[in-house]
Amino acid sequence: LASIEVDVSSLEPGMSLTAKWRGKPVFIRNRTDKEVEEAKAVQLADLKDPVARNANIASDAQATDLDRSAGEGKENWIVMIGSCTHLGCVPLGQAGDFGGWFCPCHGSHYDTAGRIRKGPAPENLPVPTFSFVSDTVIKIG
Ligand code: FES
Repeated sequence: LASIEVDVSSLEPGMSLTAKWRGKPVFIRNRTDKEVEEAKAVQLADLKDPVARNANIASDAQATDLDRSAGEGKENWIVMIGSCTHLGCVPLGQAGDFGGWFCPCHGSHYDTAGRIRKGPAPENLPVPTFSFVSDTVIKIG
């Protein structure tokens, strides 16, 4: 299936963009150090969905911030399919009680690692297959 390449060179920390892949929005965010620290400080026991939901790693991996992110050395980057796991609305960035994403349809709050923290959505926002093909280009799919 088709993959896309996205140039992320314009994304300073705290900036994001939405790409389109297989008809769905894909959120790419260059997180600030503060956002990463907030996500890392969360205890796994406090997560509604403790599974990483990251297509790039083991399907039973835990939803640590590292395993939700682009990984070691690129932990500031997060790439997720922007479709609420409740009924598929597109969540809004930098919104909600946890400073991550907020789905206005029925009030689901995701944290800065895209993990569901409050509201009716059952799962974390899924991380699609992706890789950095250079320092500034991400291939999705
Ligand atoms: Fe997002 Fe229902 S679709 S909360």
